[in-house]
Amino acid sequence: MNGQTYRQLHARSLRNPEEFWLEAAGAVDWVTAPRQALDDAAAPVYRWFPGTELNLSYNCLDRHREAGRGEQTALIYDSALTPDSRSYTYAQLTEEVARCSGMLRDLGVGAGDRVIIYLPMIPQAPIAMLACARLGAVHSVVFGGFAARELASRIEDAAPDVVITASGGIEPSRRVEYLPTVAEALRLSSHKVSHVVVQHREGFAHSVQEEARAEEGAADTQAQWHDWEQRSAQSGPAGPVTVAATDPLYILYTSGTTGRPKGVVRDQGGTAVALSWSMQAIYAVGPGQRILTASDVGWVVGHSYIVYAPLLVGATTVLYEGKPVGTPDAGAFWRMVQEHRISALFTAPTALRAIRKTDPEAALVADYDISSLEHLFVAGERLDPATQRWIGEALDVPVIDNWWQTETGWPIAANPVGLDPLPVKEGSATLPMVGYDVSILDAAGEELPAGEEGNIALRLPMPPGTLPTLWGDDQRYIDSYLTAFPGFYATGDSGYLDEDGYLFVMGRTDDVINVSGHRLSAGAIEAVLASHPAVAECAVIGLADELKGQRATGFVVLKSGREDQPETLTAELTDLVRRMIGPVADFKSVSVVTALPKTRSGKILRKTMRQIADGETPRVPSTIEDASVLEDLTPVLRPHR
Ligand code: COA
Ligand code: AMP
Repeated sequence: MNGQTYRQLHARSLRNPEEFWLEAAGAVDWVTAPRQALDDAAAPVYRWFPGTELNLSYNCLDRHREAGRGEQTALIYDSALTPDSRSYTYAQLTEEVARCSGMLRDLGVGAGDRVIIYLPMIPQAPIAMLACARLGAVHSVVFGGFAARELASRIEDAAPDVVITASGGIEPSRRVEYLPTVAEALRLSSHKVSHVVVQHREGFAHSVQEEARAEEGAADTQAQWHDWEQRSAQSGPAGPVTVAATDPLYILYTSGTTGRPKGVVRDQGGTAVALSWSMQAIYAVGPGQRILTASDVGWVVGHSYIVYAPLLVGATTVLYEGKPVGTPDAGAFWRMVQEHRISALFTAPTALRAIRKTDPEAALVADYDISSLEHLFVAGERLDPATQRWIGEALDVPVIDNWWQTETGWPIAANPVGLDPLPVKEGSATLPMVGYDVSILDAAGEELPAGEEGNIALRLPMPPGTLPTLWGDDQRYIDSYLTAFPGFYATGDSGYLDEDGYLFVMGRTDDVINVSGHRLSAGAIEAVLASHPAVAECAVIGLADELKGQRATGFVVLKSGREDQPETLTAELTDLVRRMIGPVADFKSVSVVTALPKTRSGKILRKTMRQIADGETPRVPSTIEDASVLEDLTPVLRPHR
């Protein structure tokens, strides 16, 4: 077949999106069925499935129980860090979610209200997400590796009534106390949260009672603190609330080029349709099959392929609390494949590189029966061909790269192995998925021919499940994504299409840094460095890193008269970034330089610096203010290779 079926389907999805998506909508149980797919009345801001109603928690849970699959396992919590592993059937998960919804309802949460979820990888994370969806409340999950200030900025923007958290998260080397971070974020935020619900975990120093007392003493906060178990015992279960398909399901904040994160909105109906389609067609996961997505629920991959998509199609999802290596060894994934009979494993290239570093011969694979594994899916950053080849040979399954973003919620380009597998080309994420019309544009917006690298842009409208807007800010959405190339969504990535239409994604065109598949803003880290009293100006760039893809690296110019010791300054600056942004920034490297290269209008030439450091031939703009600065900087940049 060689992909002809898929290519025809893709062409049909672009030619007649109404027909295509109304047909795909048949996979979802609606309260009011869709008669119209696309609403373009407010173009370039589009909506999917207007006048349609549903409940996503019902679609993920109750309907499978009603269809007689209540005893099938829905969720397996596999913890390599605690002895608490357990699993939930669809019937049990529905009850847990309904109980959590009842608690939230009794705390005053209703449709459209926001709830921040700041939880480690424990079952309460998906339970809380689905409980919000049950009420039509809008969740916003914040990754546990972010510090109080980042949590506060999300509280400020989303204006939630409730924060759901736990006493802490467990990293292999330490316990991360969450409650002091939450308390500090509440103090930093001018928006006042009414309730904090805490899931108690053994072994943490801080308790709900202590935090509640401390909060009472602080005049500027007014949150009531509750223990999850005690509070939910007082509430009856809540049923699914009918919402509009166009209502927001969640907000997920992601890094842009500035310090202010972008609140990516995901809607209810489009998400249900797109994720159902993608789970089966791209990841070949259907009812009763088992998927392990080794990400964190705090990222979009976790939202889509740990929580919503597997449950929408009635599959079993594994929630893994642990690392790819060291918990206890580089065989952690293969153990889970054997134990849980996983057919689809989804991870990031960094995790595979970490496994290869620890177990170069992949010897641990032989210790397990991985015969259930059909595909390995990889996303989050560029998959280098060497890693793709190494893991493909070790596991003897197809290694499927897929390219997407927080904004799109599901793959823009992938190999539809569940429908019509295409030949894999190393270094390529394969073909654009249905509904995505991918173009490569030059700086002036002209379409480039096959083989030429340029800006990857998506012709509007994008398919269902992609962001309809940014939270509370249509204009920022338009300015950030839709203005550079009118009629297109600008992805911020650079790449090319080959003569077969395969897409090769090469990297970001902006100042977004990708560390271990995590997206960081250079501007946000620079703002922290600039707050140090010794720093006159600074630049942060993402330099190539063998393990993590990129590492954020700072270059600072000191104020005149400052003679700080480089070691002391580095320690102070890295500590500052850890405290202000969080350990997730993984910021460890700083160099003091005498000047930074700039254009005559004062723009720092970050890309040129990165190209020199990565050993590429730098493109030096003719507008450079003083070329000698770049010459002086070259010896400092070179050792970073
Ligand atoms: N809460 C608190 N801290 C966290 C955290 C969390 N949820 N997650 C990570 N951190 C901390 C780590 O403890 C580490 O702190 P340290 O500087 O004190 O050691 C720091 O953040 C960086 O962590 P990490 O990025 O995990 O790097 P690592 O060197 O500890 O581990 C890997 C290396 C490769 C094992 C790890 O990066 C990994 O698992 N990568 C895959 C990432 C992934 O799945 N991305 C998917 C996105 S779709
Ligand atoms: P995030 O929004 O955190 O998922 O990050 C999205 C960004 O990660 C994209 O814009 C790309 O730069 C990068 N990315 C994600 N998946 C891939 C992939 N398969 N290949 C290349 N880059 C990727």
